Amino acid sequence: MSEPIETHAVDVLVIGAGGAGLRAAIAAHDAGARVGLVCKSLLGKAHTVMAEGGMAAALGHVAPDDSWQVHFRDTMVGGKLLNNPRMAELHAKEAPERVRELESWGAVFDRTTDGRILQRPFGGHSHPRLAHVGDRTGLEMIRTLQDRAVSLGIDVFMECTVTRLISGAHGICGAYGYWRTTGRPVVFSAKAVVLATGGIGRAYSVTSNSWEYSGDGHALAYDAGAELIDMEFVQFHPTGMVWPPGVRGLLVTEAVRGEGGILRNRDGRRFMWDYLPEDRRGEYAATDEEAERWVRAASRSQPTDARRPPELSTRDNVSRAIYQEVRDGRGSPHGGVFLDISYLPADHVRQKLPSMYDQFKELADVDITKGPMEVGPTTHYVMGGIRVDAETGATTVAGLFAAGECAGGMHGGNRLGGNSLSDLLVFGARTGAGAAAHAAGFPGTPYLDPVQLRVAERELGEPLERLDGEDAYAIQRDLQETMQTLVGIYRTEADLTEAIARLADLRARWLAVRAPNGRAYNPGWNLVFDMRNLITVSEAISRSARQRQESRGAHSRVDYPDLDDRAWGGVNSVVHRASDGTMEVGTSPLVSMREELRALLGGAH
Ligand code: FUM
Repeated sequence: MSEPIETHAVDVLVIGAGGAGLRAAIAAHDAGARVGLVCKSLLGKAHTVMAEGGMAAALGHVAPDDSWQVHFRDTMVGGKLLNNPRMAELHAKEAPERVRELESWGAVFDRTTDGRILQRPFGGHSHPRLAHVGDRTGLEMIRTLQDRAVSLGIDVFMECTVTRLISGAHGICGAYGYWRTTGRPVVFSAKAVVLATGGIGRAYSVTSNSWEYSGDGHALAYDAGAELIDMEFVQFHPTGMVWPPGVRGLLVTEAVRGEGGILRNRDGRRFMWDYLPEDRRGEYAATDEEAERWVRAASRSQPTDARRPPELSTRDNVSRAIYQEVRDGRGSPHGGVFLDISYLPADHVRQKLPSMYDQFKELADVDITKGPMEVGPTTHYVMGGIRVDAETGATTVAGLFAAGECAGGMHGGNRLGGNSLSDLLVFGARTGAGAAAHAAGFPGTPYLDPVQLRVAERELGEPLERLDGEDAYAIQRDLQETMQTLVGIYRTEADLTEAIARLADLRARWLAVRAPNGRAYNPGWNLVFDMRNLITVSEAISRSARQRQESRGAHSRVDYPDLDDRAWGGVNSVVHRASDGTMEVGTSPLVSMREELRALLGGAH
């Protein structure tokens, strides 16, 4: 007789312990639910720590005329109006309260001279808006939330990978997974499940994302029947390290540009002047002198009539500009461009950007107070994700909730920097409460269907038992190469069609993947399930990108270079699993916007 599987019963199971997962767990706990928090790595190691520059909230500490209305407008305009307007509204309204709450739980933010939370400028934000802790904001956020969750006694299950969701008569009622250390299976029975697994960056070879970012939540939800929206919108952050090769893609925070960093090409030209969108040019400084005046005022948190530097255009625009400079032969020696902040006093740079100073000194032997950094675009974030209800985080599958990067809708076609950390807090809290309310109404005790458990167990064991086949590393290499070269910043119909064909081939290879050497401490076996998820997510990205025949936000089609509002301005892309198991892609109308919100946009595009 086989041993019974280790089983844990909770009311709300939260999968993922970054900012969204921790905040959801705290909210569900506060609503009276018994909460289990599962993470793939160790608690505190979440990728959220890599969000460096700050969290956006209209506190109005540096710019008194900032307001939720302006933040809402900036977010919608940055997202090219594809955002779920209710999410953007809730986010703009609730972010200040969530930031203050984090402070009351122990987060130590940088301060204005009169002792309030300091805010810094970032691309696409009309005002200095990012509450920050030097360039280590995500780290401080995770430290604070983690302390809070632990002090509340929330059960944490570390180094645990969930491979399947279990469904029952009332929707999702549990999850199947295994301990990454021993390889032994584990089952969670739950009245509601929250996915907070972050992004998909490991589908690309150049990424700022850590190894955990393998699209687990996106794929688990898709397999369980949920809808994914806007998956074509992948954010390429303009500034990752490009040298040395071992750290290519590592994030160079936008805070460098927020503090005054200037982008130049090989010829010393400040090229961002050449790439400002015509209809927004008036928002940016017209000369070096005006930009410098703005930087001096910003560094002292003083008001100025100078407009912001061109480097603070939105990320989609700056990434394309860098890509084009490099492509046209005006790049730096290692295939990037130069980012220079060394014209500011060295003490100031070290105080504002301590991690960047250490990162470049230690990894590239570059002193950023003395000379420029070499930087280039890096896969950073996915705007697309699981379709959720703005109020509760409920997905289109009963009992299944999602928050943070794996949820879609909030950021539309392009996310503004700093809107991610505040999104995690706002929608983490809402989703935890939504899941707890669902759990409270769950009739009886979840029933874990033995057939589904057996299927999950078989899937887990098969790669260990195969005598031939290739390992998951070969699949990873080819997947990343496919996505990097065919589904990157610029896309074409032919490339996307080629990518979809290659992904079908990769899926066939995955079905025969082999991971010998037993269950315990077997990284090749762990990678098998990351690859399954990334193949699904990559197919969703590629199919959605091929469908959207226009260029909008982070999605740039060489063969359809213009925004096409008539055909595509009113729809989100939708991906779901058809009854025959194939992926179907289509569209659905945008979530409608109330008139008073529309008025805030002032006819903007
Ligand atoms: O550049 C950064 O510090 C990243 C922040 C973000 O993606 O929000």
